[in-house]
Amino acid sequence: MPGELTDETPAGSTIGDLAKAPGPTKVPAARYTSPEFAALELERLWPHVWQVACTIDHVRDPGDWYEYTCGPLSVLLVRGQDSKLRAFQNVCRHRGNELCAGSGTGMTEIRCNYHRWCWDLSGRLREVPSRKGFGALRNDDYPLFEAQVGTWGPLVFVNLDLDAEPLEEFLSPVIDDAAFLRPDELACRAIVTVPLPCNWKTGIDAFSETYHVQGIHRQMLCSTDDVNSPQADWPRHGKLGQPYGIPSPRLRDGATDDEIWASFVATQGARAGAPDPDNPGPVPERHDGESMRTLLARLIREKSASEGVDLGAFTDEQVTDLHQYNCFPNISPVFLAESLSCIRTRPGTTPDDCYLDIISCPRLPAGATDRGPRPIDVTLDAETADLGAVFNQDIANLRRAQRGLHQLGLTHLTLSREERRIISLHRNLERYLGIQDGFPE
Ligand code: FES
Ligand SMILES: [Fe+2]
Repeated sequence: MPGELTDETPAGSTIGDLAKAPGPTKVPAARYTSPEFAALELERLWPHVWQVACTIDHVRDPGDWYEYTCGPLSVLLVRGQDSKLRAFQNVCRHRGNELCAGSGTGMTEIRCNYHRWCWDLSGRLREVPSRKGFGALRNDDYPLFEAQVGTWGPLVFVNLDLDAEPLEEFLSPVIDDAAFLRPDELACRAIVTVPLPCNWKTGIDAFSETYHVQGIHRQMLCSTDDVNSPQADWPRHGKLGQPYGIPSPRLRDGATDDEIWASFVATQGARAGAPDPDNPGPVPERHDGESMRTLLARLIREKSASEGVDLGAFTDEQVTDLHQYNCFPNISPVFLAESLSCIRTRPGTTPDDCYLDIISCPRLPAGATDRGPRPIDVTLDAETADLGAVFNQDIANLRRAQRGLHQLGLTHLTLSREERRIISLHRNLERYLGIQDGFPE
């Protein structure tokens, strides 16, 4: 019933009108739990939106291939002998067998294992065993189903919709805004995947606001301004700049330099050459006129220089601070001067499970002539994974966040302006799902 907002159609109710009110923004909780809503996403979002599939380091050389999955959808990325990167729906055009699983190198043809139909790496059919039995069957009529491919820095994106806008247009203005971070100097070393018992949105929401720092990451408060961090709110994507080396305004009495240092070391000391989170030691000796922030910038520069990485192109603020983007629908590229960690959540088989991926891309040493070792991809168990204190706290909480969403009294989430990047996710989701005017017919 277009235009009517009721709790009887919570998964399809729009947040639009409610968001114009002076109070909080309300988002139907069923969007996170309902199989119908997940089905709508599968029909209207995932087949039409740009999404990160892997990195160029996974498909660096001719014959390299990688399977990207998103719920039941599977896309095969292949670097052809002509060095062109292509993407195909991972399906055989004979009877629909899945063509490839996992990733690999040295592929010279794409051959279905079932009855051995075979395509070249550009997706052109070239061999059909016992072809005569099919009557007239022309190779040109049976290419693999192609998908769009694009890259930004080390990240490879795919879009199953051949009519979708180009990637550069879709990501605007993120590519220009992040140009100072020189993403082309980053190379992937690993993708760490953690299956989680929560909706993909529950997962990415935890990387879309800093309101929860004073909830589950309290050890960060002495070294992080979690309140005044500037956020950009673009029509489709968003950004957070998070200053480090200063205490949270929530701390009435501020923090001593020792407390700032201990908090920084507890949460990200390895950046500054202090890898033991439990033993910060005293604040390192400061040069004349150095503040805690400029001290951190120098230590981070020195640590990176010891690994051959030159951060000379960045200001002290750019070196010390976090530059986090949120790109619709499911990634958060988190930049530091010395690295990119692209956080991604992908739907699993039900609305209550997803995969959290951390795509780890350090900056290459100055003057590097090649991109270094190939990425190592691992899947870790959520119960035992140790991804550092802050990530561990996020992961531990996501199970609770999802279980609570099922409780009957909770018809809506109530969002603050501090959580505007989550609100933006829902506004854009409504556009893709076609539910601006209520539940779709
Ligand atoms: S299903 Fe692939 S060759 Fe038959
Ligand atoms: Fe967090």
